Amino acid sequence: MSRVALAFSGGLDTTVCVPLLEEEYGYDEVIGVTVDVGQPESEFEEAEETADALGLDLHVVDAKEEFADLCLDAVAANATYQGYPLGTALARPVIAEAILEVAEQEDCEGIAHGCTGKGNDQLRFEAVWRGSDLEVIAPVRELGLTREWEIEFADERDLPVEAGDGGIWSIDQNLWSRAIEGGELEHPNYVPPEDIYQWTEEPAEGADDPELIEIEFEQGVPVAVDGEAMEPVALIEHLNQYAGQYGVGRTDVMEDRMLGLKVRENYEHPAATVLLTAHQALEDLVLTKEERSFKKGIEQEWAEKAYEGLVFAPLVDALDAFVAETQDVVTGTATVKVQGGSCRAVARDSEYAVYSEEMASFNTEDVAGIAQEDATGVAKYHGLQERLANSVKAGLEDSSPAITDGGESENAEDEE
Ligand code: ARG
Repeated sequence: MSRVALAFSGGLDTTVCVPLLEEEYGYDEVIGVTVDVGQPESEFEEAEETADALGLDLHVVDAKEEFADLCLDAVAANATYQGYPLGTALARPVIAEAILEVAEQEDCEGIAHGCTGKGNDQLRFEAVWRGSDLEVIAPVRELGLTREWEIEFADERDLPVEAGDGGIWSIDQNLWSRAIEGGELEHPNYVPPEDIYQWTEEPAEGADDPELIEIEFEQGVPVAVDGEAMEPVALIEHLNQYAGQYGVGRTDVMEDRMLGLKVRENYEHPAATVLLTAHQALEDLVLTKEERSFKKGIEQEWAEKAYEGLVFAPLVDALDAFVAETQDVVTGTATVKVQGGSCRAVARDSEYAVYSEEMASFNTEDVAGIAQEDATGVAKYHGLQERLANSVKAGLEDSSPAITDGGESENAEDEE
């Protein structure tokens, strides 16, 4: 008996895939897999009810902790893509691996998703699955299904889909972010109505007293909020709820998708905003200038690979190794102030601070054997090359337009 595992949400796309995998792809049995990365309860209910109605064997896998750990790796890497903290992108490889595991345990020969051929998710899933021996199937893309066709098909077959399929927007929600897209929102010039948001209060109407939130980090990992120790999942859930009251963590971006399409996306992600802001503030205190600037390039690369769903790539392991090396000293606290949709760092403290009050102060004499006058020599050299370049340029502009070798070397000699 041939079996195929299907990434199943109970929505229109994945519901339609069930009969198609049997009829069009010839599988005897479809098993559904739903992976918990912190979706709302209602999504599991929808998946379970639909699976029941279809007579589909549904496996629910809890991957929340693993996903939360990956989100915290993203914090260590200060990772955002075009302003978006990567919630959907980070979740996909975790989901893909969990489904693959079930597929292998259940002796499946095929593995399928209901993604269209336009988005990023098809690529993120398949990047993981194509490393296996299973047949990878994307019915919606391969059969060129449209939404209208799916609705008609579901109606003809009496498939258990709700009319209208859950509202006008397409929502993807997990522990790290809530993405809202589709409908009129796709138009870049359309101002989103307030009711697309569920995690964040309207900034002008949220709790009005500014609040300070202190995050404690141990080697780059947030471990406590306002002095209360929390595990990653609980810590993220708490901050989503708490900072969301202040309207913190909304982004409205023009996103460049992997296939080149530019798409308007709206997100909310209060916890991600608080943690990224606090983490950056603490790093600014404990890393050297050179580490900070080199790490920027690493972060950019990390975020791009994460966006592409390639967090399991060898390159990302190597980037993580660099990040980990820098995080040894990212231990201490950072405090952010949340108010009216904004979140900014207002204090940071660490025993690893690369900061000497004595040295920075105007009131002390020699420190570490360095006196104020010692800066005179540095000041004489500073900008030397720029001054030289500008005077060479000015000399050439004044003289004849013909540049000769002789002229140039004479000039250079003069300066030396
Ligand atoms: N564009 C984002 C990404 O590719 C999020 C997509 C969210 N999906 C949705 N149905 N709202 O990471």
